[in-house]
Amino acid sequence: MIHYHKLGSVPPKHHVTHYDENGKLLMEQAMTRVGFDSTYSLLYFKVPPTDECAVSSMEVPGFCPIQPMAQQRLHRRHIRTQDLKTSGDFLTARRTVLMNDDVRVGICKPDTKPEHWFSNSEGDECWFAFDCGGVVESVYGILPFKKQDYVIIPKSTPYRLHCDADKSTFLVFESPSRIDVPKQFRNEAGQITMDAPFCHRDFRIPQEMLVYDAAKHGTGPYPLVVKHANELTVHEFEHFPWELVGWDGYSYPVAFNIKDYQPRVGIVHLPPTIHITFAGSGFIICSFVPRKVDYYDDGKGHKAIPCPYGHASVDCDEILYYVEGNFTSRKGIEPQSISLHPMGIPHGPHPGTYEASVGTDRTSELAVMCDTFKPLLMTDVADSIEDKDYHYTWVKREGGGK
Ligand SMILES: [Fe+2]
Repeated sequence: MIHYHKLGSVPPKHHVTHYDENGKLLMEQAMTRVGFDSTYSLLYFKVPPTDECAVSSMEVPGFCPIQPMAQQRLHRRHIRTQDLKTSGDFLTARRTVLMNDDVRVGICKPDTKPEHWFSNSEGDECWFAFDCGGVVESVYGILPFKKQDYVIIPKSTPYRLHCDADKSTFLVFESPSRIDVPKQFRNEAGQITMDAPFCHRDFRIPQEMLVYDAAKHGTGPYPLVVKHANELTVHEFEHFPWELVGWDGYSYPVAFNIKDYQPRVGIVHLPPTIHITFAGSGFIICSFVPRKVDYYDDGKGHKAIPCPYGHASVDCDEILYYVEGNFTSRKGIEPQSISLHPMGIPHGPHPGTYEASVGTDRTSELAVMCDTFKPLLMTDVADSIEDKDYHYTWVKREGGGK
């Protein structure tokens, strides 16, 4: 995903014999994207991952299957995910709050150790670890992650996610397209350019293969929950299927910490898309990190306004997930709040924040933004935790209320 990587033992060429220590011929599995035309990895399994002995169904209410609400009134919205209570592991504690054909936005608050292996065949996932670190175990090996990391897990990767804390919180994006470094940050060789807001060294990749351990992984059968066509199907394997001797290629999980993002500042305010971090088809993910702010001053009374201007984004919906610090343009939001400012109605800074920003030289805000080209639709979960007054909070200053 970020660059070519090899881990463990692979043969000298593609599609040639490769034996284990007992002389058994290993099965190569090519994990390919867009048919055979895009990125791929070649994986060498100890046990072919095709020996299912049983198949059954499963549901996680609020996650899969999922449909948007029937009525979607046009509002500025504040979804208080800090009020969402869930329990279970990294799979059963997942809930989807906003969705369209290009991206789904969910929250996961696990409070148990992983009880499942999971594979999302509907697309890539991007997890943002709000408050804890942990480890992703996958067929590609062991990937430790830290608090405030993004962890991207490619489509159809069997994995499970462990958290360091007893209770933890994640923001999760899912997309049928690849979630990747934006094209403009790659040169013709695929290398991240020198003027990108990050470099290859900022991305962490599995460095250690997954080794089967009966105490950790059990004695089987080994169930894998696969998300496909808005359903969860449980495939049970007779033998532990996720131990490899090696793999190489361009498809694998990767971790990147939001505070390794190198923000841009202009002499006057730059558009929020200057903070772009990852992109998928029909959406982008941006990182707002602590930084110096815009600094224009002509000495004649005209200064830069660091707070974002009013904005009619007629082709995009915009969400912000607030992580920490004071967000320059908003009042009444807290860490874990999601604001949704949809196309069709303008939005802008809350009263007082625009004026207060003039003359400031830093912002401490830390937030994740997602812009989408198709409208984001609310789910019942989002409706149950929505601050229904948010749309009116711009007029309350003048005693208007509803
Ligand atoms: Fe905006």
